[in-house]
Amino acid sequence: MITLISAMGKNNEIGIHNTLLWDLPTDMKHFRTRTQNKTVVMGRKTFESIGMELPHRKNIILTRDKHYDISSCKNTILAHSVQEILDIHEKEMQTHPEYEMMIIGGSNIYEIFLQYATHLSLTFVDATFPNADSFFPNITFTDYTQLSCKNIPKDEKNIFDIKICEFKKI
Ligand SMILES: NC(=O)c1ccc[n+]([C@@H]2O[C@H](COP(=O)([O-])OP(=O)(O)OC[C@H]3O[C@@H](n4cnc5c(N)ncnc54)[C@H](OP(=O)(O)O)[C@@H]3O)[C@@H](O)[C@H]2O)c1
Repeated sequence: MITLISAMGKNNEIGIHNTLLWDLPTDMKHFRTRTQNKTVVMGRKTFESIGMELPHRKNIILTRDKHYDISSCKNTILAHSVQEILDIHEKEMQTHPEYEMMIIGGSNIYEIFLQYATHLSLTFVDATFPNADSFFPNITFTDYTQLSCKNIPKDEKNIFDIKICEFKKI
């Protein structure tokens, strides 16, 4: 399985100045739970935005830089091509059919992997962000079956209503 996981505004906004557009602890918790103990694949810019490897997950950073320094990381490898990542997925699937590779962004990486994704785990943030400079690619929803969807109203810690939905490619 290859799952794209992302949170986006009403216009597919996902980021600004290499950081997120919101602080939504409920979505962060969902992200942690959904990716826990799995392989997470991210672009080099998203890795730098997070600032560290994600614990309890195998991290793969896509970069063209053959000398990119990950010496501070314990559970991270570099990939220098999309094919390398697809090969890892293929190999894991042979021994673990339930294997799920989570593509965690950013914009560049979502664009590349959307065509390979078997599943989407999307958080829709009920707001617009006119200053955004990073976007999730346009999705043809008729290509997917919705598996679940949960509305989560805003509260004192989460300033926007969100909807967390899971999709499977038809
Ligand atoms: N809302 C969300 O769910 C979410 C999730 C993740 C990220 N984000 C946001 O997304 C933004 C970052 O996205 P981004 O598109 O600017 O960057 P990105 O996708 O995180 O990383 C882009 C980098 O990936 C590497 N790369 C891309 N294609 C490659 C290929 N074919 N082969 C080898 N390496 C390749 C390159 O690294 P090198 O330059 O090192 O070669 C490229 O500069 C930030 O604002 C972040 O906060 C939002």
